[in-house]
Amino acid sequence: MSNGLGDRGVVERDDINVLINSDEDYVKYLELKIKQLEEERKRLLRRVEYYRSEIEKLLAPPLIEAYVEDLTPDGRVIVKSSSGPNLIVTIVNGVDISRLRPGSRVALNQRGSSIVEVLPDRVDPLVQLMEIVEKPSVYYSDIGGLSEQIQELREVVELPLKKPELFAELGIEPPKGVLLYGPPGCGKTLLAKAVATESNATFITLVGSELVQKYIGEGARLVRELFNYARKKAPTIVFIDEIDAIASRRLEIGTSGEREVQRTFMQLLAEIDGFKPLDRVKVIAATNRIDILDPALLRPGRLDRIIEVPLPSKSGRVEIFKIHLRRVKIKGAIDYDLLAEITEGFSGAEIKLAVVEAGYFAIREGRSYIVFQDLLKGVEKVKNKRTLRNIMYDTIRHEARLVYK
Ligand SMILES: Nc1ncnc2c1ncn2[C@@H]1O[C@H](COP(=O)(O)OP(=O)(O)OP(=O)(O)O)[C@@H](O)[C@H]1O
Ligand SMILES: [Mg+2]
Repeated sequence: MSNGLGDRGVVERDDINVLINSDEDYVKYLELKIKQLEEERKRLLRRVEYYRSEIEKLLAPPLIEAYVEDLTPDGRVIVKSSSGPNLIVTIVNGVDISRLRPGSRVALNQRGSSIVEVLPDRVDPLVQLMEIVEKPSVYYSDIGGLSEQIQELREVVELPLKKPELFAELGIEPPKGVLLYGPPGCGKTLLAKAVATESNATFITLVGSELVQKYIGEGARLVRELFNYARKKAPTIVFIDEIDAIASRRLEIGTSGEREVQRTFMQLLAEIDGFKPLDRVKVIAATNRIDILDPALLRPGRLDRIIEVPLPSKSGRVEIFKIHLRRVKIKGAIDYDLLAEITEGFSGAEIKLAVVEAGYFAIREGRSYIVFQDLLKGVEKVKNKRTLRNIMYDTIRHEARLVYK
């Protein structure tokens, strides 16, 4: 069907007289025009809607952030507003009351008189930063050759977490935290996790170097929030790995980055000073570089228990071999004494590695069990790798020293 307008659909004003030579054509032209205008109107309405909502946003009064402290029996709520005072407020219809509990984050209307919204809990940057394990699954029996260290941790961490009343009655204040130090791979992380498991405590890990590198400008705040969180989840063990990254002694504070680290460290000290020894929060810090730690961290009332986690002794190495061979299928006799003899200077992690390597030797020979010979080869392999790594490690240590000078 031709309407005289061709395929173009759109008609230029000058063309009209040429194209329209009957009333019928003129009606069709007008119909088309109406359609176009309707489309145009819809488009403009959408824009109006958009601008209206933008204007609404710009004119809307800001809401006030607050935290619920308590719910009163008459249905009102006591909140702590971010600007300071505690307020007693009502709840606007439509807000889900069942979501309100002490600690919930809410939005108040502009006058601060009503809760208009329940906000999601703020844990975002924290959750990324720290690793939270409600219940780690490492036990004291998984740790070889460190019975003295375990004994001490049980006394200063596990017992006060489990039986604070014992200390309260006696009138003795247990240490707020401990520092574990020693060479890499000897069981510091393992010890901290095991204490948390055996004390039924929440285990929160914070890695010092990550805090410094990833959260520039936020370190101090994060430390504060972390401890708030730890108190909420008590009993809690806050494990600060590589604490030397935030707590190293510096000769002068020059760059802004160093000032920031310093502030984070100050906040950490303030938190440790702030909680009571029986608050059911304990700090376990770990480092390989006790030589560069700021002594302020180790003052009485802070991390005043310092526990060395050294390379395992010969009998320790026997225990560690046995632990890592517990679940390994073995044929024939194992001379543990000889294994311990030839692994002088090995860390726990290296012993574990030797067992894994032994497993690979067995697999390569198509066996589904290992024999003593595999273990000897495994140890040899780790020794070779070690020489290489030690060379690298020495280089790094050398450079590190230059930086700190
Ligand atoms: N005493 C030990 N008994 C049993 N296994 C051990 C022991 N020490 C280390 N290991 C093994 O080595 C692994 C690494 O140990 P861990 O992470 O505890 O070392 P670390 O002292 O924290 O080292 P780093 O200073 O490098 O953090 C453990 O997961 C465990 O398998
Ligand atoms: Mg570790």
